[in-house]
Formats: sequence, structure tokens, C-alpha cells
Amino acid sequence: MCSVISRVKPVQRALASTLRLRTNADGLNYAAAQSRRFCPGLSTGAQPLWVTSRSYCARIATTDGLFFRQLFEVESCTYTYLLADTDTKEAVIIDPVLETIDRDLELIKELGLSLKVAVNTHCHADHITSTGLMKKRLAGLKSAISKFSGASADIHLKEGDNIPFGRHSLTVRETPGHTDGCITLVTGDQTMVFTGDALLIRGCGRTDFQQGCAKRLYQSIQEKIYTLPDHCLVYPAHDYLGQTVSTVGEERKFNPRLTKSMEEFVEIMNNLNLPKPDKIDISVPANLVCGLHHV
Ligand SMILES: [Fe+2]
Repeated sequence: MCSVISRVKPVQRALASTLRLRTNADGLNYAAAQSRRFCPGLSTGAQPLWVTSRSYCARIATTDGLFFRQLFEVESCTYTYLLADTDTKEAVIIDPVLETIDRDLELIKELGLSLKVAVNTHCHADHITSTGLMKKRLAGLKSAISKFSGASADIHLKEGDNIPFGRHSLTVRETPGHTDGCITLVTGDQTMVFTGDALLIRGCGRTDFQQGCAKRLYQSIQEKIYTLPDHCLVYPAHDYLGQTVSTVGEERKFNPRLTKSMEEFVEIMNNLNLPKPDKIDISVPANLVCGLHHV
């Protein structure tokens, strides 16, 4: 659950629909609009921005032999990520959502993937994870979450742990602040980072519940995410505005909260005055037991 969700909740479905329309039916116009948005000075030129500047995100994945898919859940605006070794077919899923379990399992089946681990970046407050149910439907699947999350899982992760899948792996970086048990996952070649609710595109997770601490979040992002290469692609757990990917360099330069001093950041985060998330009372207890509570 993130800091901007409550303010935009009434229009989430509309935004999600807009995103689908833009990317499916109006992709070229959307790309042009994005180009104008990110660099107005180049908006009338024929070339999109990403051709002319390396400081902006222009890709979705680069690693040879790595299958990557970004999936979206409309109600909570959650991104689920599926990664796999294209040769061995071993796969990992990040932050799967209960409402989209059938879609995700169908995709995994169609692609002939062998899902080894379902990992949650933290104990979510805005939706129920499908991890527990997925384990019941896929033999051999293991669940994983931070040892500091307080949640049950097959694997309790800590700083420096690796989640292997075929020739690839994800490395755990502990990034507390949104919750005590937030982790960020980095691909072995540091070309992709999955930031959960710690760092969002031009934003960050709220810090006013679930052991939230603005100072810790600021330190986590500065020390564990902003130390990655500029070109590293940033994939957050949510986006409410149709943004799908960023880069470390882009966020370091343009994130309106994280370009501030720690003191200014803490002041901003402590005065957001956000209402309690709608689903927190059912999501957190469920997610503490792999999403199976009341399911
Ligand atoms: Fe969250």
C-alpha cells in the first residue's frame, strides 16, 4: 500500500482502463505523449526521447536468456513480475495477487515454466497475496518473504540472500522504512531492480503504518537502491498513473521526494495525512499467513 493510493482510489479503474487503452489501442500516440512529457524541448521532433538521451528509461529488460513479464492487477494497481530462465524454464514470481491467480497460472502453464519461488517484497496492506493458494495449485512451489516481515513462509529472506532460477538469480537487499520487512530484489547483473513499495516511480511508499519510518526509508533508498547503476531499470510494486518502469538514474534525478534532504523528506512523509487503506484489516492478517486467511 503506497502513499498516493488513497487519494486516487476513486479513479483507479479509470486510470487502469486508460492505461490499457493507451498501450493496446493507442500505443503510438501514448509513446508520443510520453516523449513530450519527459522532454518538452524534443516534442516536435521525429525521434522519441529515448533515442537521444541515455539518462531516461528506454528498455524493459536486457539480460540474455532472461524471460521477463510485467503483469498488472487493476483494483490495487499492483505489478506482479514473472522472471524465468529461457533454457531451463525455472521461474520466479514477485508479488502475485489473489485476484489474478488464474491469469498468472495460465501464463505460467502456457509458457511451460516451472515456478520455483513466489516472493513477496513485503506484507502488503492493500491486497491479498496469491502465494498461499498458488502453493496449493503448483507442486514444489516455495513462498518467500523477509525474515523481518513477521509473516510465515517457506523461505525467510535476509540481506544478501540469493533466489536462483536457472542461470539467473535475484539478490535480496533489505530496504525497511515502508515496513520493517521490505526487501528489494536485484538481478545478478544489476540491470533490473524490484523495489516493492520502498521506491515508486516519482514517489515512495507511505510510512505512517506497519512499522513505517520515514528516516529508515530515506536511508534504505539512498544506500540500497540509489547505489545501483544509473541504467538499472526500476520496477515498483505499484503505479497509479500508468507508469511502468523507470531507472535508478531517472529517480535519483527526478523523484520529487527523494531529491530532498532527509529532514525535508521526513517532514513531507509525516504530513501526508492519508486515510487508512480500505483493505488493511483483511489484507495484513491474510498476508501474514501467505494470503490464506479467510480465503
Ligand atoms: Fe505496501
